[in-house]
Amino acid sequence: MTKRVRKAIFPVGGLGTRFLPATKAMPKEMLPVVDKPLVQYAVEEARAAGIEQFIFVTGRGKQAIEDHFDHSYELHQVLSQREKYDLLALIADIRLPAGSVTYTRQPEALGLGHAVWCARDLVGNEPFAVLLADDLILSDQPCLKQMCEAHASVGGSMVAVMDVLPEHTQRYGIVAPGPIGGDPKLVPVLGLVEKPKPEAAPSTLAVIGRYIIDGAVFAELDRRETGAGGEIQLTDALARLIGRQPFHGYRFAGERFDCGDKVGFLEAQLAFALQRPDLADHVKAFLPRYAAST
Ligand code: G1P
Repeated sequence: MTKRVRKAIFPVGGLGTRFLPATKAMPKEMLPVVDKPLVQYAVEEARAAGIEQFIFVTGRGKQAIEDHFDHSYELHQVLSQREKYDLLALIADIRLPAGSVTYTRQPEALGLGHAVWCARDLVGNEPFAVLLADDLILSDQPCLKQMCEAHASVGGSMVAVMDVLPEHTQRYGIVAPGPIGGDPKLVPVLGLVEKPKPEAAPSTLAVIGRYIIDGAVFAELDRRETGAGGEIQLTDALARLIGRQPFHGYRFAGERFDCGDKVGFLEAQLAFALQRPDLADHVKAFLPRYAAST
C-alpha cells in the first residue's frame, strides 16, 4: 500500500537577487501577494493536502520566516486589548502546531537537490512533498492535494507539470513523457532533463515546483553530483529513480504564477486581488485607467 505523504520540505534558502532591493534584508519568500507572504500560501497548500510535518530549509537572514509561523506575543496582546477579534483569528490561523515545524540550514547555496538533501534525516525513508514558494498556484483544489490524491493510487514519485513555450524550456526541468494511460492528468515520465535548450528538450512539458518524492531519492542525492549551472540538481537525482518505481507528471488543474519573476509576480497580484470580494471591484475599476494611460 502507498504510504501517505505526511512531511513537506520548503526550500527557502535562496537569496532572491531578482527582487533587490526589496529582498536585501527580507526573505524573498516573505514578499506578499496582496497581503499574504508567498511562503504562507505554500504552507496553507500543504496543510490542505494533509501535511503534518513542515520542514524549512533556510539560510542566513531568513528569521522572519520562523517568526511568521510562530506566536507573536506582543501582537496578540495589542490586538486583544483593542478587541480586534477578526485579526486575532487571522494570526492564530498562521501558527503551525507545536512540534510540527522544523528549521534546518543549508550552509551553502549548492542547488535545490542539496537543499532537499539537507532535510534527509528529518524526512527518513518515506514519501515526502517539496513545495517551491516561488511557484504560486491559483486553483479550486490546492495543487498538492490534487497530487496527493493521485499519488495514493499510483505511488512512487510525482512532479507537477504544465506546458510551456518552446523558448522557455531552459528555465525548467523538462519531462520526456510516455503514453497516457487511463487518467489524462497522469503522464508517465520516461526521462527528466534540467533546463535543456529548446533544441535538446524532450518536450515542452515542464516541472513546476510541487513534488511528491520517494525517500529513495536521498541515496541519489548522497552522490552530490553537480549538473546544470554547476549545482546539485533535484531533477538529476529524480531522473535516476525513473524505471525503478512509478514516476508520473501530474497535469494539475489551476493557474501557476512564476513569482520568482517580476512580471509573473505582478500578474499574481492582480489575479489574486481579483479573487477577493473586498478588492475585485476596485481593481476592475482602476486597471483600465492605467492600461489606457500608457
Ligand atoms: C527549479 C527546478 C526546475 C523546476 C523549477 C520550477 O528551478 O530546478 O526543475 O522546473 O524550479 O519552478 P529554479 O526555478 O529554482 O531555477
